[in-house]
Amino acid sequence: MHNFKNDPLGDSGFLEIEVDPKLDLFKEIGRLKKEKNAVVLAHYYQEPDIQDVADFVGDSLGLAQQAAKTNADLICFAGVHFMAETAKILNPQKKVVLPDLNAGCSLADSAPAALFRKFMQKYPDHLVISYINCSAEIKALSDIICTSSNAQKIIESLPEEQKIIFAPDKNLGAYLNKRTGRDMVLWNGACMVHEIFSLEKILKLKTRNPNAKIIVHPECEDHVLRVADYIGSTTGLLKFTEKDEALEYIVVTEAGILHQMQLNSPHKTFIPAPPTNNCACNDCPHMKLNTLEKLYLCMQYEQPEIIMEEALLNAARRPIERMLEISARFGL
Ligand code: 13P
Ligand code: SF4
Repeated sequence: MHNFKNDPLGDSGFLEIEVDPKLDLFKEIGRLKKEKNAVVLAHYYQEPDIQDVADFVGDSLGLAQQAAKTNADLICFAGVHFMAETAKILNPQKKVVLPDLNAGCSLADSAPAALFRKFMQKYPDHLVISYINCSAEIKALSDIICTSSNAQKIIESLPEEQKIIFAPDKNLGAYLNKRTGRDMVLWNGACMVHEIFSLEKILKLKTRNPNAKIIVHPECEDHVLRVADYIGSTTGLLKFTEKDEALEYIVVTEAGILHQMQLNSPHKTFIPAPPTNNCACNDCPHMKLNTLEKLYLCMQYEQPEIIMEEALLNAARRPIERMLEISARFGL
């Protein structure tokens, strides 16, 4: 056991403790899960080792659903900050830890609560649907939360004449406006990962791999969505590749999802779509701040912990519960 000074986290946002390289982290994490009645929830964009050691790997909706029903005392969230916050909002009595508190989200950051409150004032008769990729403050200002798995169903569950603000992702919002025929007012936010896919490079890949299907996450821009054979959330994309008859796919989302695709369909080929920069594939720098070592440390020392004001926890809960209720109604 290490002895901490008063503030073991310091300013870094994660535990800066050296981990013995000889330690079998898979075994240690398994031991900690049992000893502490802990659960490890991981998003598909986490590195493969984290996905392999997790109790549940999923998209934002699946992770929120798992968080809502877990019996664990300690929730170790291998994802980004807004996801761990969501788990805490749903489990105010439980301890929720995140391997690295700096694991933020450009999309969530694109909607500061003070500006959003002013924006809402311009549309007093609008209902607010917010994508789960937002801060707890934005959730508290919203009527219903959604994810890319359930957004269309949630919008369609509302009367056609209902006026809606959709935040914070303008790309997902524009896609949903097209799918549903609504005219939602969109907040001008975007994901730094999904916005930088290169259409030119994707089309070159398609020329070199003519049998490959292009599958795209709806956080991407419209010109990329237009060339898609299939559009869906990360779980949607994964399920599509399991059921579809094609043998090759150009995968236009964060590259972490390829790990599950390859595990579930070992005979198929998955090609990560390239961004406009010089990288061959597109990693989310926030998601990839988490490592197996940091996961082990946060389980061992139960830090860094998600701490939130009770009033904010309570205000943000109802819109998330509404999302879970509507999703359950549709069997999602
Ligand atoms: P989903 O998990 O809903 O597919 O969203 C992807 C994403 O960008 C999460 O940060
Ligand atoms: Fe946020 Fe985009 Fe990273 Fe998802 S992939 S956590 S939306 S920055």
